[in-house]
Amino acid sequence: MLPQEIIKAKRDGKTLTREQIAFFVKGISNGNVTDGQVAAFAMSVYFNGMAMPERVALTEEMMNSGTVLNWDSFNLGGPIVDKHSTGGVSDSVSLMLGPMVAACGGYVPMIAGRGLGHTGGTLDKFESIPGYNIQPDLADFQRIVKDIGVAIIGQTADLAPADKRFYSIRDVTATVDSIPLITASILSKKLSAGLEALAMDVKTGNGAFMTSLEDSRALASSIVAVANGAGVRTSATITDMNEALGDTAGNATEMREAIEYLTGVRRNPRLHRVTMTLATQMLLLSGIAATKDEAKAKLNDALDSGRAAEIFGKMVHALGGPADFLENWQGYLPKAPVIMPVYADSPGYVAEVATRDLGLVVVTLGGGRSNPADSINHAVGLSEIAPIGTFVDSNRPLAMIHAEDEVSAAAASVELKASIGLSETLPELDPVVYETLTADDA
Ligand code: URA
Repeated sequence: MLPQEIIKAKRDGKTLTREQIAFFVKGISNGNVTDGQVAAFAMSVYFNGMAMPERVALTEEMMNSGTVLNWDSFNLGGPIVDKHSTGGVSDSVSLMLGPMVAACGGYVPMIAGRGLGHTGGTLDKFESIPGYNIQPDLADFQRIVKDIGVAIIGQTADLAPADKRFYSIRDVTATVDSIPLITASILSKKLSAGLEALAMDVKTGNGAFMTSLEDSRALASSIVAVANGAGVRTSATITDMNEALGDTAGNATEMREAIEYLTGVRRNPRLHRVTMTLATQMLLLSGIAATKDEAKAKLNDALDSGRAAEIFGKMVHALGGPADFLENWQGYLPKAPVIMPVYADSPGYVAEVATRDLGLVVVTLGGGRSNPADSINHAVGLSEIAPIGTFVDSNRPLAMIHAEDEVSAAAASVELKASIGLSETLPELDPVVYETLTADDA
């Protein structure tokens, strides 16, 4: 078999066999396929697509290019289940949902990513906790999941290495936005954690990877078909990203919001709705609950009893963070030297948000990355972000800016104001959760 023959077949619109896909993925991992060939293959898939069996084969072969976690010897006594989001602004769902599902009897081995561009990253949020180790070895990771029920860590070199090279070539050849390739990329990494069930959060709107509902549906449907085809019970919920999800954006700021959520101090209604919807899916897919009502009752009990918060604290400590983080987080999370309100120039209702630009305000403050290698400031960001429909005036700011100095605060303030449009009348609100696709819909 030759790589160029496989590229030619895809270029000419043919359906590839499992053997051809396996051969090509092997070549990506061991270097037998050149960067040019990988790029040509990606572009052929971009234009000609892939049938479902090809997508399943690509996902499984990329997953099998590295370690696939095996849990057989751990006798967990509960299902292995995870959630993944396509990324957004102010999306701290994973921070709460992992411990909540663990408190209901699930085991959540969550391998999370860093933020890039306008989107935040779960790993960066955890790195605002002193001592938290996002890169334990896989044996420690599995032990913590067994002992506590959840561990949230970063991608390691052993998990789906073929995707690492493939993605870096797609990134510079305008071939990222191909639904078959996104499906295989996301699922090869997620499924390498040895999952039984997966709840996907596919964001839609002007701050999402897929901006139209139609494209978000196509991605959701592809992910559901491929993951179920690969033997993992999976649903995909389409959720709104036409504004920030919660009250805060940034790293320490979102960590604070998560702790306040878990301890019952404050729960932003949109963030709560998405967290409960996805956690409910996790309990249903993994068989922990038989109905949505039962799932919601279990999740509410996990929150009200304090068990979810306690599990969060234990996970932080097991991964190297302070033992008393949950109680004394105010003393541990970094604080920005400048915290200031930003008011609208004239009063009105928040009517529309350029969510991507809002996310980029955090980058301007130094809390996000333009390049993967950039270092970030964990203290800076936004809080009290006014949701759509809020009346803002000289008492209610658009948001509070947390900045390192007055100069970056001023620059961020200009960008923040430009990203939010006001109206004189109360605007219509978008749904927070659009729909959930299951194996029956795919
Ligand atoms: N996220 C991924 O991990 N892979 C893609 O291809 C796109 C988004």
